[in-house]
Amino acid sequence: MANVVIIGAQWGDEGKGKVVDIYTEYAKQIVRYQGGNNAGHTLVVGDEKVVLHLIPSGILHPGKRCVIGNGVVLDPKVFLGEIEGLKQRGYFKDDSQLLVDSNLHVIMPWHKAIDLAREKDASRKIGTTGRGIGPAYEDKIGRRGIRMSDLVKPQLFRRKLQEVLPEKNFLLEKFFGEAPLDEEQIFTEYSGYAKQIEKYIGCCSSSLNAAILAGDNLLFEGAQGTLLDIDHGTYPYVTSSSTCIGGVSTGTGVAPCHITGVIGITKAYCTRVGEGPFPTELHDEMGENLRKAGQEFGATTGRPRRCGWFDAVAIREAVRLNGLTGLAVTKLDVLNELDSIKVCTAYSYKGQLLEEFPRDADILHDCKPVYEEFDGWQSNICSATSMADLPAPAKAYLAKLEELAGCPISLVSIGPRRDQTIQVSNPFG
Ligand code: IMP
Repeated sequence: MANVVIIGAQWGDEGKGKVVDIYTEYAKQIVRYQGGNNAGHTLVVGDEKVVLHLIPSGILHPGKRCVIGNGVVLDPKVFLGEIEGLKQRGYFKDDSQLLVDSNLHVIMPWHKAIDLAREKDASRKIGTTGRGIGPAYEDKIGRRGIRMSDLVKPQLFRRKLQEVLPEKNFLLEKFFGEAPLDEEQIFTEYSGYAKQIEKYIGCCSSSLNAAILAGDNLLFEGAQGTLLDIDHGTYPYVTSSSTCIGGVSTGTGVAPCHITGVIGITKAYCTRVGEGPFPTELHDEMGENLRKAGQEFGATTGRPRRCGWFDAVAIREAVRLNGLTGLAVTKLDVLNELDSIKVCTAYSYKGQLLEEFPRDADILHDCKPVYEEFDGWQSNICSATSMADLPAPAKAYLAKLEELAGCPISLVSIGPRRDQTIQVSNPFG
């Protein structure tokens, strides 16, 4: 029995979708535990590109069970659209492949409206995905959210709507100057979604714990990344969920003692979308080159990603916060053409050398990276099948990342396709 967690070790977009797709072969169930459709996991199957926002990437494999845990916030319209798209492309033929936890919170129209209205204020902008994620989690913590189990009971849903909507409309109209939302329209539309989703609803904790007892392997698919965690990230420039390891247990009802491996996904360089500090960001031609070579545009919003060198200080933070047992280094091939590559080993802050990631975003903002420079390999590594096939400078670069992170590399990705992957060790044993 092995239960492995995939966690973004940077600011999201590290290539988790592909790694989950690779590890799905070894797991019976694939589980999302936090976030919502702010995520965009891109997979390449043959010549086809599939982008999933909510449904675990394991859905592309027949016979695998995909679970959306109680810690996720779910937009029913997006969820049903994703199912429809998958069915049209010939994936996901069996409804029993999918389980949605009854306790998860539903993203309602006011969540999106409030998210977008808040982002209009340039002085307080976070650069959110505009999907209503933050406001949905606010209502969950504020004990006024609507759960999936409420949505499927028409009387209860009506009562909750009547309790919540007047307050939301007051905020929308009087504070943000936006149009109010209509109760009847929401009731009809969302009751319709509930009827279609009802067949997928169940208890994630019971189902997963029964699977663990039966000796099945589980794969937990994290969304976003460690540095966007609501508690441990670069607050307030974070998402509103626990993206670190603790989110697995609160978001699924599976106890921490069952987790056997935690793989942190990191690009061979670094990117960030939205606002917030990013010490190794490159504002020059090199940043532009990385963006072009890595096709660094958001899978959810299409926004260009900010690009920079690999930040070992940030990775050490991810190793510590999550107890990472392995690293998966993705997009190594994006560096193919470079004659030299930099890695940030520490920060300089007001004349001090910092080797630990500062907890305060204002301090991080004023940190300057201290770089070590490495030779590039200036050759195409996309068809390597083992570490031995890689040119010496690429092997040296990976060895240095491993040493600086203090965590062994389990996997190296050298292209978008499944076969462009070097598995160094397998967390499923
Ligand atoms: P929210 O999650 O939409 O509230 O956005 C909050 C912050 O997290 C913004 O900076 C977003 O760009 C960032 N973010 C949210 N989801 C992702 C993701 O899947 N990848 C990368 N950044 C994300």
